[in-house]
Amino acid sequence: MRIVSGIQPTGNLHLGNYLGAIRNWVKMQDDVAAQGGDSLYFLADLHAISMPHDPATLSANTREMVAALVACGVDPDRSILFNQTQVPQHAELQWLLNGTARMGWLNRMTQWKDKAGKNREGASVALFTYPVLQAADVLLYQATHVPVGEDQKQHLELARDIAQKFNNDFASEEAPIFTLPEPIIPPEAARIMSLRDGSSKMSKSDPSDMARINLTDDADTIMQKVKKAKTDPEPLPSDKEGLEGRAEARNLVGIYAVMAGTTVEAVLSDFGGEGFGKFKPALGELLVEKLAPINARFVELRGDRDALDAILRKGSEKARALAVPTLEKAYQALGLVR
Ligand code: TYM
Repeated sequence: MRIVSGIQPTGNLHLGNYLGAIRNWVKMQDDVAAQGGDSLYFLADLHAISMPHDPATLSANTREMVAALVACGVDPDRSILFNQTQVPQHAELQWLLNGTARMGWLNRMTQWKDKAGKNREGASVALFTYPVLQAADVLLYQATHVPVGEDQKQHLELARDIAQKFNNDFASEEAPIFTLPEPIIPPEAARIMSLRDGSSKMSKSDPSDMARINLTDDADTIMQKVKKAKTDPEPLPSDKEGLEGRAEARNLVGIYAVMAGTTVEAVLSDFGGEGFGKFKPALGELLVEKLAPINARFVELRGDRDALDAILRKGSEKARALAVPTLEKAYQALGLVR
């Protein structure tokens, strides 16, 4: 079993990232270690340059993201924690896979359509080939499982298509070059929505900071954001069906359930009939209680730039060693003389 997953260091780690992916990273690092497998978690800094960005902010965010991941429980001794940039094999394999990926496949990617918007001619080439780099990220390590939120499912399916076509075209059935990775998507927190709009996902790129809970927010900020979260005027229903068509209410109840380690039904049996005036402070307090230790650890770690750089350096060294054999096989299969 080999787990691989990544996150873009483009801003703060938020509750959507945590509940959709990072919580699973932490859980799986223990399961995998017990089975003698590996878990590799990386900062997708090469992906981060597919959109306009400020270089100094990217460097600062990269280090902050390492601190945040460690604060969440990613253990650099048990998992391999690194950044793409320090493992050049990611970019090399992407180029090789560019020969296999089809324009039509990339044209269908919803993230490409959303992020390029109407201005496709003005979008970067990197934004278009982004999913090929993502395929390289996981295929390079023969990943068996990839813990992600729902929004990454389509990219993972593309990675499987690329692997399958490459294997078909350049390898024998008995000795495929790439493993087909399985996505691991949490059933209850696959898509955490914005606090300002229940129809769009919580996202680092939302211009309003009020739309998300950052794992680095202090207690007052969390209470304030929950209090201001968009809701409807009705009291909470007493069963799950009553949340139909109430996207904001469903999102908040869902967050409560996952954070409390219980079910939506149980939350509604406690709060059914109550208004948001009672539910929101309870949710805020729960978030503060659960996120406070992460926040405290983050504050402790974020200032030690040398220690954070050392984590990435060591992790990258381990990742490179695992990456080289597969990359060499791919070069060879394509007939490229080394
Ligand atoms: P990124 O940086 O946008 O998000 C990191 C992880 O958080 C999950 N996530 C969410 N889950 C639930 N609700 C939300 N509102 C929410 N927002 C984000 C994402 O699904 C993801 O798992 N392209 C990727 C990074 C990447 C990657 C990879 C992932 C690059 N290479 C290889 C897996 C494997 C991205 O931009 O994730």
